[in-house]
Amino acid sequence: MDALTDHARKNLEHWDRQSDDYEARHSEQLTQNPMAWGCWSVPESQLQVLGDVGGKDVLELGCGAARWAIALAKRGARVVGLDISARQLEHARRNMRDACVDFPLVHASAEAVPLADASFDIIFCDHGAMTYCDPYCTVPEAGRLLRRGGLLAFSAATPILNLCWNESEDHVDDHLHANYFDQRRSEDASSVNFSLPYGEWIALFRRNGFTIEDLIELRPPHDAQTSYTDYAPIAWARAWPAEQIWRVKKLRDS
Ligand SMILES: C[S@@+](CC[C@H](N)C(=O)[O-])C[C@H]1O[C@@H](n2cnc3c(N)ncnc32)[C@H](O)[C@@H]1O
Repeated sequence: MDALTDHARKNLEHWDRQSDDYEARHSEQLTQNPMAWGCWSVPESQLQVLGDVGGKDVLELGCGAARWAIALAKRGARVVGLDISARQLEHARRNMRDACVDFPLVHASAEAVPLADASFDIIFCDHGAMTYCDPYCTVPEAGRLLRRGGLLAFSAATPILNLCWNESEDHVDDHLHANYFDQRRSEDASSVNFSLPYGEWIALFRRNGFTIEDLIELRPPHDAQTSYTDYAPIAWARAWPAEQIWRVKKLRDS
């Protein structure tokens, strides 16, 4: 891998370390509905974020164990899965073997993707690398890698969830705990996450040649179940958006 940023290296070590535990905790939910968004698995068939992927070149940034990528390959997409964690990619290879599906896996950071300009129609992730990378690196990278008219779509925690995160209690509540305008990078002992205020996301997309198609604020149904029990109580996520999906299209080269 090319030289990594400090936060990419920290996140790599975090994911290599916790990959097996993550699989043990979440594989049942992720396998049950591999094409679903967010912690409460809202189905792609309902949201239509990616649409018809048949015959399209698709890159998943932070593919993990590649369940999304395998499902898209089965629907006729030419998929590439990229992840920074070697251990996550081992889980991906096992799942690909089990599904009798084959496509390239790239061991790299989404901040510096070793692939050619204008080689994809869709770049996406579900709580993937867009959460762990500096958007000022990944949005230009996506702009470089996408063909004109191509789609960038990704889910992540909302700024509202981040503001309501009570660090001393380590859970979300209904008070504001942080400065909205200062949110960008948050770091704990194990990993580094990124999030931007809404206006800053929009300015960054526009500066890199993207137009905004949609911002989907996920609201799980009240009977939804999740293995991500430490994310947010369902009552919270039904009252305020805990997860969002940006859907932006590349109009022009920046
Ligand atoms: C929460 S997992 C999501 C994976 C997949 N969507 C799933 O649900 O299994 C986040 C993934 O992002 C990857 N990741 C973190 N930082 C990355 C980076 N800089 N470049 C590429 N992948 C990264 C991690 O290794 C991990 O596999």
